[in-house]
Amino acid sequence: MRHQRVIVTHYGGPDALRVVEEECPEPKDGEVRVKVLAAGVAMPDVMARKGVHPETPPVPYTPGWDLVGVVDRLGNGVSGIEPGRVVAAMPIHGAYAQFVCLPQRELVPVPPGLDAAEAVSLVLNYITAYQMLHRSARVKPGQRVLFHGASGGVGTALLQLGRLAELEMYGTCSSRGAPAVSDLGGIPIDYRHQDFVAEIRRLTGEGVDAVFDPFGGAHLWHSREALRPGGKVVGYGNTTSLRGEGLGSGRTGRRNRLHGIPIYALYIAGGWLLPGRKRIVPYSIQTLKRLKPALFRHDLAALLELLQQRKIKPLIARRFPLVEARHAQELLAQGGIIGKIVLVCEGSSAAAAKFSACAAPQPPAQSPAAGT
Ligand SMILES: NC(=O)c1ccc[n+]([C@@H]2O[C@H](COP(=O)([O-])OP(=O)(O)OC[C@H]3O[C@@H](n4cnc5c(N)ncnc54)[C@H](OP(=O)(O)O)[C@@H]3O)[C@@H](O)[C@H]2O)c1
Repeated sequence: MRHQRVIVTHYGGPDALRVVEEECPEPKDGEVRVKVLAAGVAMPDVMARKGVHPETPPVPYTPGWDLVGVVDRLGNGVSGIEPGRVVAAMPIHGAYAQFVCLPQRELVPVPPGLDAAEAVSLVLNYITAYQMLHRSARVKPGQRVLFHGASGGVGTALLQLGRLAELEMYGTCSSRGAPAVSDLGGIPIDYRHQDFVAEIRRLTGEGVDAVFDPFGGAHLWHSREALRPGGKVVGYGNTTSLRGEGLGSGRTGRRNRLHGIPIYALYIAGGWLLPGRKRIVPYSIQTLKRLKPALFRHDLAALLELLQQRKIKPLIARRFPLVEARHAQELLAQGGIIGKIVLVCEGSSAAAAKFSACAAPQPPAQSPAAGT
């Protein structure tokens, strides 16, 4: 049987993405072959394609941090899981494919009846949001928080989980994202026309308890200025190195993947040494998953339950067939996307309707139309 997967042929622009057709991979001992129903498209995919993300693999490689799919074939020594079961995983790369082989321990069961695109949004974005809120910042009801990039993939997840945690929420976004931020319970701050530190001071007086900052660099220090004494900045990215399809630094290539980390370390140390008890702490989903895989599984299961109970509702910006991965990444990098972009199986916009056919033993998936 043959399948398609996307590869990054070299570090650089969207032209580095190619679709290849080849024999389906066979599961090795202890592995499970998964037929992918949905794969998330995220900013780290774009950064890795340019070679500037810490998790950039050597080329050629298949991108894709997260997936939801159906167990299709078992390798030797696998037990306790049956073909037809819907599962989620975060392989970090490899998810932009019709079939993927993964070690059984990487798979988390997905409850029946969930939309695959909504479920895949939980893996990278919502776990990141959940762990930063509850494990890094340890937020408490009534606390004030500032989310940067609040209308994006991680930002909208932070808002939905922050609302459940009864936080008072502020969110930086462009004017396009402001209605979404308000709808999710946040007070929007237009980063293009307002100084967010001045605005936070005006709205809160002494500042917020926590800021969640995906931009890194000098932006981290600016975020620290929005804290009240004793507050925390959770730093979770280095997007200042990336603007649209161009790099702030003009760099591409894997040798640049650790660019920005020394300055990050400097700001973290400064946060500890300077008066005011305002800390900067780093967060990395992949580091925490490697160090404590049980937490990852626990948190994903908790989020899947919240989705099943309809307490959270991921915003799906667009659904693209796998073969349109290039277009999906171009759109994400342009900006202005509200929520998550997802690649769906079967190469057509009607793929959502086929999810139930892919996942035969499961009840039919609830599949809202593209563009919800
Ligand atoms: N550490 C981790 O474990 C981890 C995990 C997941 C993601 N991340 C990082 O999280 C970041 C966001 O990822 P994502 O997938 O959520 O990206 P995304 O969906 O593209 O969202 C980014 C958002 O930031 C907004 N934005 C751009 N410049 C801004 C500024 N100066 N101030 C405030 N908002 C601004 C954009 O709004 P407009 O387009 O309207 O301008 C967009 O809504 C990336 O850096 C990624 O690497 C880290």
